[in-house]
Amino acid sequence: MDRSPGLELRSWHGHAVLEVADTLTGLYRAAFCAPPWNEPPVRAVMFRGRLVTDAERPGFVAVTACREGVPVGFGTAWTTRSPFPTDRRYPDITARLGAERVTTWLIGSQEIDELAVSPGAQGLGVGTALLETLTAFAGRAGSWLLTSTASPHTVPFYRACGWHQITRITAHPSLAVFLSPAHPAGPARTGGTR
Ligand SMILES: CC(C)(COP(=O)(O)OP(=O)(O)OC[C@H]1O[C@@H](n2cnc3c(N)ncnc32)[C@H](O)[C@@H]1OP(=O)(O)O)[C@@H](O)C(=O)NCCC(=O)NCCS
Repeated sequence: MDRSPGLELRSWHGHAVLEVADTLTGLYRAAFCAPPWNEPPVRAVMFRGRLVTDAERPGFVAVTACREGVPVGFGTAWTTRSPFPTDRRYPDITARLGAERVTTWLIGSQEIDELAVSPGAQGLGVGTALLETLTAFAGRAGSWLLTSTASPHTVPFYRACGWHQITRITAHPSLAVFLSPAHPAGPARTGGTR
């Protein structure tokens, strides 16, 4: 069943994303500079700046979702290359998973960087549609992403989408790494959780 009828999804590869950079930045601000994330507005400006270099990454793709011509969400992704990055929160991922699992599970697969639905459009299937469209570009290598358990909505959302958490589940807010259903180390291929 189509959970989100009338949704127009469009993909932007490489530098083409810069045509919609302002739209993505507005959606980023609406989704993340509000509860529960409460990021300061400067983070949206930083996201806009990152887009220019992120668009050059191998496998870069953005997907936008519009309803009746109004943008309601977007996602961005690219292929994780070797060596594994050491900026942003990547060192935390290596610390959680260990270098061997980073190499075999994350490098070479598709990394979902941002996924955002404007507050008024959340809970209507837009995020699911964006994630499915983005991961369709991953092929057999599958996809992975990093999120934080500080938001009460993200872990239930990714689980509902069939994603599999590979970081230890803790009682306290922490980072969580998920693999897509199609990932070679995901439950669909390995038959269960670790
Ligand atoms: C997280 C987010 C991308 C999900 O997108 P969405 O369009 O709201 O989600 P969907 O409507 O596709 O939900 C799919 C499933 O996720 C789960 N889910 C979504 N929102 C939920 C919530 N608030 N609480 C619990 N479960 C939730 C449900 O199981 C839902 O399925 P159901 O409607 O059949 O019950 C969106 O809410 C968002 O942009 N939030 C702010 C930014 C953010 O957190 N981005 C992700 C950072 S990693």
